Amino acid sequence: MAAAPQEGTRRAFDAAAADFTALGRHLWGPIGAATAAAAGLRPGERVLDACCGTGASAIPAARLVGPDGVVDAVDLSGPMIDELRRLSADLPQLRAHRADVTTWDAGGYDVVQSALGIFFFPDMTADTERLIGLARPGGRVVFTIWRGDAMAAAGRHLGRAVAAATSAAPPAEREPHLIDRINQAAAYATWLAERGLAEVDVAVHELRLTMTPDVAWLVITGSGYRGALANLDPDVVDVVRERYLESLRAEGVTELDATTLIGVGTTRLPVPNR
Ligand SMILES: C[S@@+](CC[C@H](N)C(=O)[O-])C[C@H]1O[C@@H](n2cnc3c(N)ncnc32)[C@H](O)[C@@H]1O
Repeated sequence: MAAAPQEGTRRAFDAAAADFTALGRHLWGPIGAATAAAAGLRPGERVLDACCGTGASAIPAARLVGPDGVVDAVDLSGPMIDELRRLSADLPQLRAHRADVTTWDAGGYDVVQSALGIFFFPDMTADTERLIGLARPGGRVVFTIWRGDAMAAAGRHLGRAVAAATSAAPPAEREPHLIDRINQAAAYATWLAERGLAEVDVAVHELRLTMTPDVAWLVITGSGYRGALANLDPDVVDVVRERYLESLRAEGVTELDATTLIGVGTTRLPVPNR
């Protein structure tokens, strides 16, 4: 029987957890901090951090809400949650949960935030709307996504390298996805407003990674791209690494675009009865 789509996502991030924190210094950390800052968090607030990974946005959020606040940080991946618990041992207000956030039940949050998570949902629109519904009326929502084809170059070079190392056919193009249509600021703002949010604003968070060989390989082993290495023997993975780095060199790739769009909005207050 084919694995559920969530299973593939979970397995890829389970495997990536060890290198996720190392890549975080270059990638997840700055994006997560910008996501938590955009939420305008205040001491004592209750936050849901969906698809929290190892806490790039959940940990700064926990610091901003302080000991009187709460951050429920939710991720599918057990290894990610274990690493988050280790990293947040001094932040009792951060509660890390291993769960599928598309079925998370608690609500009434002051802020619902998610950095680089919502495009993994099986139904991006319906599952995001459900998440928005977990914020209290007048609460804030912050969802961060990649801009354009940020990060895609790494996947292209990896796909070629895996094909060369395993003598397989080059990977097929990814199926078209909603995210391809809304990954620019104006389209993303429109999509968020259509989800019922008010005061929508989308900020562009520019980021470029310098692709030293170590960082370039971490981009694969510390992210969802890790899934492409599943089931390969370690010596084949070594060949993939060499081919991937060669492929980047051959095209003169020294930087990777890691720019994101940080979308914020507020949930509407009920209209009072006349
Ligand atoms: C690209 S990572 C981002 C992690 C973190 N927010 C950050 O910015 O570092 C995406 C995360 O989403 C998680 N994820 C994907 N679908 C999920 C779901 N339905 N419920 C909970 N977590 C999910 C994955 O396990 C992974 O840790």
